[in-house]
Amino acid sequence: MTIDTVLEKATIIPVIEIADAGVAGDLAQAFLDGGLEVIELTMRTPAALDALAAIKKAAPSLITGMGTVLNERDYKGAVDNGADFIVSPGITLPLLSYAATQSVPILPGIATASEAMTAMDHGFTALKFFPAEVAGGAPYIKALGGPLKSLRFCPTGGVSPDNAKDYLSLPNVVCAGGSWIATKQMIDGHQWGEITAKSKEAVALYKEIKG
Ligand code: 3PG
Repeated sequence: MTIDTVLEKATIIPVIEIADAGVAGDLAQAFLDGGLEVIELTMRTPAALDALAAIKKAAPSLITGMGTVLNERDYKGAVDNGADFIVSPGITLPLLSYAATQSVPILPGIATASEAMTAMDHGFTALKFFPAEVAGGAPYIKALGGPLKSLRFCPTGGVSPDNAKDYLSLPNVVCAGGSWIATKQMIDGHQWGEITAKSKEAVALYKEIKG
């Protein structure tokens, strides 16, 4: 899978944290029922890799990225457990050099023009903008589009139903990510119906702007 394929299917990407891999199948189904095709599971709990494997077993069609990948070791672990793509909050030169040799693609995280140019130097033009709201929000991404016209962004971090339209209205924003669709509380509480409802709302919000 290429990052272009991931971004073609992505609308608003739920950024999720799973503490118990046992919920992975029900959670994946809740997203599919809500019309989402792409999710990001963060590598922030001891259960993350098991949860990734469980999602891919229960719902192979759900395009699942492993987020919070910081280095080559994390990358390998994610790929070994079935990740369709990789997401990082930032970039390091070793991570970019490694990613450039891999068939499982990365969405590298950047927050400045210099970081974006470093990613471009390694061949990456689809980037996560993180942490979006505090790093400058939609006006900042719009400004980056002046000199860095070849780049496409997926903002995450502080994106919400209240400001998602500001981001998605920009031509250089192709999708967005956020934790509000499936919060830790909703996942721990097994609120699958609520997660499906939030997923449907997110898809509708995206389609309202992007068609
Ligand atoms: C994160 O890394 O936590 C994600 O970007 C989600 O951020 P959010 O909780 O502000 O949506």
